[in-house]
Amino acid sequence: MSAIHFKGPKRTACWVLVIILGFYFGVYSFFMCETRQKAYMVPKEKVKYIYDENERAIPYDHNMPLIFIGGMPRSGTTLMRVMLDAHPEVRCGEETRVIPRILGMRTHWERSDTEKHRLKEAGLTSDVIDSAVMAFILEVIAKHGSAAPRLCNKDPFTLKSSVYLSKLFPNAKFLFMIRDGRAVVHSIISRKVTITGFDLTNYKSCLTKWNMAMESMYAQCIHVGASRCMPVYYEQLVLNPEVWMRRILQFLDIPWNSTVLHHEDYIGKPGGISLSKTEKSSDQVIRPVNLEALSKWVGKIPEDVVSQMSKIAPMLETLGYSPYENPPNYGKPDPRVADNSMHIQQNMDYWKKREEELLKQEKGQRGRPTQQEKNEKSNS
Ligand SMILES: *[C@@H]1O[C@H](CO)[C@@H](O)[C@H](O)[C@H]1NC(C)=O
Repeated sequence: MSAIHFKGPKRTACWVLVIILGFYFGVYSFFMCETRQKAYMVPKEKVKYIYDENERAIPYDHNMPLIFIGGMPRSGTTLMRVMLDAHPEVRCGEETRVIPRILGMRTHWERSDTEKHRLKEAGLTSDVIDSAVMAFILEVIAKHGSAAPRLCNKDPFTLKSSVYLSKLFPNAKFLFMIRDGRAVVHSIISRKVTITGFDLTNYKSCLTKWNMAMESMYAQCIHVGASRCMPVYYEQLVLNPEVWMRRILQFLDIPWNSTVLHHEDYIGKPGGISLSKTEKSSDQVIRPVNLEALSKWVGKIPEDVVSQMSKIAPMLETLGYSPYENPPNYGKPDPRVADNSMHIQQNMDYWKKREEELLKQEKGQRGRPTQQEKNEKSNS
């Protein structure tokens, strides 16, 4: 028999003691935890605004339905953004360049174990970094161009981080531009577009790099899911712009407006499209949508690379491009597009002149004033 064995009133007293002690420690520890919890900072201004040309305030925050356009450079990302910019409710603007860089830095901090450890020691948990990166991206997008109800960003390589961005901005959507890798690489090489890691003298290595980048961006797009990431084929957009712009605007929950089919009329106009010098000179966005660029690459790629195409760039097949057809059949154009292409061919001089004129325009003469220009004006 064990020595400790209570019975009768002693047993009741014992239970009462246990309950009282339990209650006391429970309440005590509850308040201790409460007071020990770290105090945290709350931003003073709850709502931030940008102002459009009529001084209408548009609130912005990380829950707004931002639009991210990306893909490999030379895949129609600029065309996509100018078409959206031609819509009165949307503003994309020029490449920001700093957004993909901050995303790259964040990835680096996250991947390096020693760095991550040191940051944690200093109180820079993932939550702290995420909220700082989010604020940085949001401020850049909101303020580098004019105010609009729907803000959009085009920096090709941001789509390498679409999963991360989809968490920072829970209502953002993504447009993933896809184009035949052979055309992309030919464009990069012939136009001498410098991209980190791309050897501009070597078709094979460029195609390999295109393949790697597309693999990663495609996987991220699939991970984000069809309700938030839409793949857009450049060839299809160019062949049938109305069909695709209707689908894209529906996907983005933006009402249809035919202005998106005539982007060339809105370049440099108030409320229209602001283009940087590089975009004016390197992209053919000054002209209406046309077929010029679809198969320029044919005959330009070395024979030994062409003959191993499916091994060098397996993503071609994954994405539906036949690796051994040079060129593949991209489909039939909408008659209006075929018409634009003929018009451009026959009026080469006109479009060349138009490009030169736009290049001469001062940057200050573009569209709506930017937030910074407004601030400068109100400060003076
Ligand atoms: C399309 O945009 C133009 C230019 O901003 C505007 O005047 C027009 O009312 C819009 N049309 C529709 C159907 O919303």
